[in-house]
Amino acid sequence: MPSARQPNPVERYLADLLERCRPLEEGEVATYIPELGKADPSWFGICVTTIDGHVYEAGETRRPFTLQSISKPFVYGLALEDRGKAAVLARIGVEPTGEAFNEISLEPGTGRPRNPMINAGAIAAASLVAGHSLEDRWNRMLALFALYTGRPVELNDSVYRSERETGHRNRAISHMLRNAGILTRDAEPELDLYFRQCSIDVTARDLSIMAATLAGGGVNPVTRERALGAGNVDEVLSVMTSCGMYDYAGEWLYQVGFPAKSGVSGGILAVLPGQFGIGVFSPPLDARGNSVRGVAVCRALSNELGLHSLNAPRIALSALRARFDLRARSSRRGRSECERELLAEHGHEAVIYRLQGDLSFAGMELVARKLGSEPAETLLCVFDLASVREIDAPAAHILRELLIGGAGVGREFALVGLARHPQLERSLGEAVANGSLPRLVQYAELDAGLEWCENRLLSAHGAASADALELPLAEHELLGGLDVEQLRCVAQLAERREFAPRQFVVREGDAANELFLLVRGGLSVLASGQSGELRRLATLSPGMTFGETALVERGARSAFVRADSAAVCWVLPCAALESASRAQPGLMIALLGNVLRSSLQIVSRLSRELAAGAP
Ligand code: DON
Repeated sequence: MPSARQPNPVERYLADLLERCRPLEEGEVATYIPELGKADPSWFGICVTTIDGHVYEAGETRRPFTLQSISKPFVYGLALEDRGKAAVLARIGVEPTGEAFNEISLEPGTGRPRNPMINAGAIAAASLVAGHSLEDRWNRMLALFALYTGRPVELNDSVYRSERETGHRNRAISHMLRNAGILTRDAEPELDLYFRQCSIDVTARDLSIMAATLAGGGVNPVTRERALGAGNVDEVLSVMTSCGMYDYAGEWLYQVGFPAKSGVSGGILAVLPGQFGIGVFSPPLDARGNSVRGVAVCRALSNELGLHSLNAPRIALSALRARFDLRARSSRRGRSECERELLAEHGHEAVIYRLQGDLSFAGMELVARKLGSEPAETLLCVFDLASVREIDAPAAHILRELLIGGAGVGREFALVGLARHPQLERSLGEAVANGSLPRLVQYAELDAGLEWCENRLLSAHGAASADALELPLAEHELLGGLDVEQLRCVAQLAERREFAPRQFVVREGDAANELFLLVRGGLSVLASGQSGELRRLATLSPGMTFGETALVERGARSAFVRADSAAVCWVLPCAALESASRAQPGLMIALLGNVLRSSLQIVSRLSRELAAGAP
């Protein structure tokens, strides 16, 4: 037994990064808001939250500080939700300025602030937050940050008062906005709302969860609550990328390469879309107003972990987990010799595409190209979506087009795991309803999809349906090689039994004293799972035998056998068989030889599949 918890390399990396950046002593704590000047320059914390909600913490990740400018992208997001993109763009631009956060200038011609990350744009964005009154709008902002952080947040009253008393430059900016008609109400209350949003207390941990919320498309990964509509996440991340670090934005993109936002109290929030969020807190700032240690941490994370956002993972290549045909893997349904031969000959006519992860355009383009180059004799295709987490709209569109186009050239499709993607299921259902698709074949498990391929191939190539014809007893595989006398003896002992669909042939725990030779229909071997449900272990077709262990030992049945369709078995009582074989010693040897042969065939097929690595 291990004596301690397995060390986590990411935790250790962050703890080490904290110690490597701690000795950086440059920078000054902001004092232009007097209350911020009280911060201790040695405070330092790093926090990373993954998009599945795991929080890594190193250093002082729970020490409160005020959001300051880090509030800006979030309030901008709220303005987008409240007013829509066009109305917001009419009042606030999206061009980086390359100047300081508190520059006093508006875009010539339009009179708009150049972007929502400089103070002018942020004050304008706050003014667009909807509500009946100033207090209502403020409460909506608090509720917004509570959604992003996953906890109630509060105003830091002393920082708020300190900024309100000294923020004359921001006062000048607000009056300029009022004069330009960007603010349509009194400047002072609008400015007050901006001062309040800057004075909300958060921690480095909160910042990383807020960032992870943006990284995960607007849903808080810890609480699973949506904070921002998916349609506005790209806009918020875009302005953070181009303008989040003010006059350092270009170099930041070059050196670090992911969207981020800094605040004068020493916080930096950074977003790795689709991966995780970062929150760093260390009060000393460089000349551009960004946390010295925060910038160093982000640079190290980017360079050491290969996180530059333009260094994108090759998602297209990982969307297709495997492509194989029916010769590489068969279903669990047992098949007669003749069926096995047919499937070996025609197995290449059914292909299985196992997809995985988040499917987007790039991944589906690859699938479309591969399917397009399948030979014309590929009659059947299974798309296994059971390991697909999400399918975006363009990918879903391509998949639908593939099914429609394929049906047009005579291909048949089955989908596995479609029920996990209700939107796609609905859209394919509509395609069937409007006649663009002939039918929708879908299964919960790949095994059922494989069985569908086998059945379609067998019927396409003329194998008799298991349900239609009854195999003469003498042609049953168990009786292969028996002489006339032995066959007559078996026929005398055997009793013919018929089973209705879903009728149990044997039940778990029954005495095992008979041998069953299936000659018509299909049977399933089922075992009870942990929660009492029946799981299919195997299926049997005409020509196959079950209960043969009773020939070797008489115990209790270890599984249920149930008829899938109307089925017929010849049943041999083991005791009678044993006494008959006393007079005919060759009979038992011949029967056991056939049992052994069919068991060896199964073992060798399974070993081959295992060695090839089940695709
Ligand atoms: O407007 C201000 O001066 C502050 N409340 C926020 C400034 C800020 O955080 C700039 N970011 N680096």
